[in-house]
Amino acid sequence: MEKEKIIKDYEKKIKLFDKYNKHYYEKSAPLISDYKFDNLKHQILLLEKKYPYLKSKNSPSITVGFKPSKNFKKVKHKVPMLSLGNAFNQKDLENFEKKIINFLSINKSENIEYSAEPKIDGISASLIYIDGKFTQGLSRGNGVEGEDISENLKTIKDIPKVINAKNFPTEIDVRGEIFIENEDFKLMQENFANPRNAASGSLRQKDPRETSKIPLQFIAYTFGFAKDLKIKTQTEFLENLNLWGFKTNKFNKLIKGIDNLMNNHKYLEEKRNDIKFDVDGIVYKVNDFSLQKRLGFAANAPRWAIAHKFSANSSTSEILNIEIQIGRTGALTPVAKIKPVNIGGVLVSNATLHNEDEIIRKDIRIGDTVKVERAGDVIPHVISVDKSKRKKISKKFNFPKNCPSCGSLTIKDFNETTKKLDAVRRCISEGFKCEKINIEKLKHFVSKEAFNIDGFGKKIVESFWNLGLIKFPQDIFNLNYEKIKNLEGWGNLSVSNLKYAIENSKKISLERFIYSLGIRHIGLENAKLLADHLKSPENFFKLSNKTYINELSIIDGIGETQIKSLGSFFSHQQNIDVLFKLKKVINVTKIQKINSSGKLKDMTFMFTGKLTGISRAEAKSIIEQNSGKIINNVNKKLDYLIIGEKPTTRKVKSAKEFKIKVISQEEWQRMLE
Ligand code: IVH
Repeated sequence: MEKEKIIKDYEKKIKLFDKYNKHYYEKSAPLISDYKFDNLKHQILLLEKKYPYLKSKNSPSITVGFKPSKNFKKVKHKVPMLSLGNAFNQKDLENFEKKIINFLSINKSENIEYSAEPKIDGISASLIYIDGKFTQGLSRGNGVEGEDISENLKTIKDIPKVINAKNFPTEIDVRGEIFIENEDFKLMQENFANPRNAASGSLRQKDPRETSKIPLQFIAYTFGFAKDLKIKTQTEFLENLNLWGFKTNKFNKLIKGIDNLMNNHKYLEEKRNDIKFDVDGIVYKVNDFSLQKRLGFAANAPRWAIAHKFSANSSTSEILNIEIQIGRTGALTPVAKIKPVNIGGVLVSNATLHNEDEIIRKDIRIGDTVKVERAGDVIPHVISVDKSKRKKISKKFNFPKNCPSCGSLTIKDFNETTKKLDAVRRCISEGFKCEKINIEKLKHFVSKEAFNIDGFGKKIVESFWNLGLIKFPQDIFNLNYEKIKNLEGWGNLSVSNLKYAIENSKKISLERFIYSLGIRHIGLENAKLLADHLKSPENFFKLSNKTYINELSIIDGIGETQIKSLGSFFSHQQNIDVLFKLKKVINVTKIQKINSSGKLKDMTFMFTGKLTGISRAEAKSIIEQNSGKIINNVNKKLDYLIIGEKPTTRKVKSAKEFKIKVISQEEWQRMLE
């Protein structure tokens, strides 16, 4: 009987606690004083300690604060929102087209049609419509996962809320750009550096009524997923967007041939200042959807589209000092601290000098008058020195030969491909021994593409580091929140937000986990290749055994450089310790194959010789789409060697020795029918 009473009393307290907690975190309107709230929490914890049978999912010993309303809910994009490759000149465009022609294995004289669309410098958004109703709107986020900003998006007039058109897909996410016209921006320029920041800030308002006061606009230009879409080209899609009630860009054009793309670029660049909003280039998209589908995606961007940037803005300034920054991989980057100067609406006070060789080549010195360029989201850089303005007393800049952070020796690697020394000098310190490298590793660890911890920015990493709160990645999951609560600028709510964001990040995909470790030469693309091959975190941890690392050479795309770098990472005990400790506090998820039931499931392939009518790249992509795997060399793990014209005899011979099936291109294509 006694027990029943205790349970009842406990449940009553939990219910109250839940109510107060919700009011405090979600509505930012506490119902009781902090003192009473803490007291109640304390009583619950005491009861739980005394009577271990008491349990509730809402107990303060379990809850890490409610989802704070300031943090928007994260939602995975059904189809990732990728970025675009950049082109700066005719040569880049020619290369872009050449790659397309090679991939599709088509005749050079065949003219590819492009939809050329001004690239609006705003914030992209994805609008989900189900049965003609706007149901959810997401920000881009890190491309894989966006934030649910539906309520704010609903305040934008250009976004249709209901679409009744007959041919409107039953399910679609329409994507486009949110922006503010330059005229409207003038009224709010005291608060934001440029229209883009103003649009971004307005979209992230906690209260949609605040967003509604900002004259945000929306121009649509693409889609992520679409059910029952009967449209065959991008231009046709843009026309339909108009019919469905979306605004599109009136400067969109259908163009063939590089010369014509260049002419249109010149025309729009001249017209740029007459356009009512910021445009920073032109996006070219292969117009035919079936070709787009064949071309598919490489790492982070589609093969069928590119952004042709407008030329950068520039200005002159004076170099006040040259500082050496140390990156995550030990690279020493010289940065010029310049007299602040306004370039295209942004106040610039730092400009990169790239590397030691660049300083020597341009003979850049402290005190020099220099031309600084800034293009869109690219880091401002020094392009030239006005030597006529140089003072007599100026001295050549001596690039440090030792790491300014830890004093270790710095070296330039020998590049096996170019057979030259790298232009970049690096600190040779490994693991977590160099303070600056260590801090950069932590910044990388929490960054958007890695653990994606909301609100845990670079400044916080630095401040926590200086306070001795973090040293290794695992420390992030064992923070002393009591201490943080008492720091200047922190309070109950912000600590709770941080706690929530950290808890939320604990579940991470294998590829992002591998990327987060910041291993040199293992960027997003290689991390994905490794994850796809290794499948489970256990297999990744096994790489501390050298034999497993060498086996990675069968992955197409992973070469000697990556293997060497992984080898070096796993040979440092400190890295192994970090992995071991992280393993205990986080949850790395296994790879789930999207299409694991394709016709080539569990089969491995390799090509030798030239294929007919199809490029090697496309053939590879088809195999992967059908759940097959490409491997790099003939060994017992290979199932099929596909031979084209003039195959390498050695490969065919060794395949036969291993009793691997040697098949022709036609036989392979028949497997797909
Ligand atoms: S298509 C995979 N079309 O540019 C194709 N993007 O770097 C992705 N953008 O995040 C987008 N105008 O914010 C496309 N007409 C246009 C665009 C456009 C602006 C932005 C968009 C995207 C970024 C790509």
